[in-house]
Amino acid sequence: MNLFDVYSLWNIEPVCAKGCRVWDKDNVEYLDFYGGHAVISIGHSHPTYVKALQNQIEKIGFYSNSVQNSLQTELAQKLGELSGYPDYSLFLCNSGAEANENALKLASFHTGKKRIIAFQSAFHGRTSGAVAITDNPVIQSPFNEGHDVTFVPLNDIDAVTKELEKGDVAAVIIEGIQGIAGIFVPETEFMQQLEIVCKKHDTVLILDEIQSGYGRSGKFSLISTSAFVPILLQ
Ligand SMILES: Cc1ncc(COP(=O)(O)O)c(C=O)c1O
Repeated sequence: MNLFDVYSLWNIEPVCAKGCRVWDKDNVEYLDFYGGHAVISIGHSHPTYVKALQNQIEKIGFYSNSVQNSLQTELAQKLGELSGYPDYSLFLCNSGAEANENALKLASFHTGKKRIIAFQSAFHGRTSGAVAITDNPVIQSPFNEGHDVTFVPLNDIDAVTKELEKGDVAAVIIEGIQGIAGIFVPETEFMQQLEIVCKKHDTVLILDEIQSGYGRSGKFSLISTSAFVPILLQ
């Protein structure tokens, strides 16, 4: 069987890494400014992380979510404290796309509405709902077109408000910093206004911090990475 040909790959195969350095299979050393889409926040093969994984796998590597798991409770408590959101709930899942799918689903259950507002050039993942709110028709199949999504310009509060006034919007989703689009930081005043208009129109504001969260911008203020559901600001 061949690997499915998803997209073109860089011609490099890292086989070993430590901190901010990686080595390829020919033992060429690189300084890693990429970190796999900014994922390796703590550096490659951090000794604490390696030890914790080794210890755990030696004890028990997997069990389903239908049993008690005090490690999850401990993680939720620590993340709540670190991020300054001790009263929020943590939903654990496997990828950023899955996190966004679940955030959209929760927002829709909660409001009873279905339309989503997303921003021009946004990227939120490749699964059905997540790719539908991603502003890139090239990666959307006809199957993904059934979702009710409107894209508006970033930092345009009037455009958002005009859509919210129609009364059918379950959620507005925004990246803390637009990543795949380039590096575009939403204006602070726009974010503050966004929270106010969303509250006013009973719409959930979803902050997708999958690339920009988890302390990557310096402050550990918001929590969501590939493994954590984006925060629902209500
Ligand atoms: C802002 C944002 N949201 C969602 C995703 C999707 O995450 P995953 O690839 O873990 O599904 C990404 C991935 O790069 C991202 O940058």
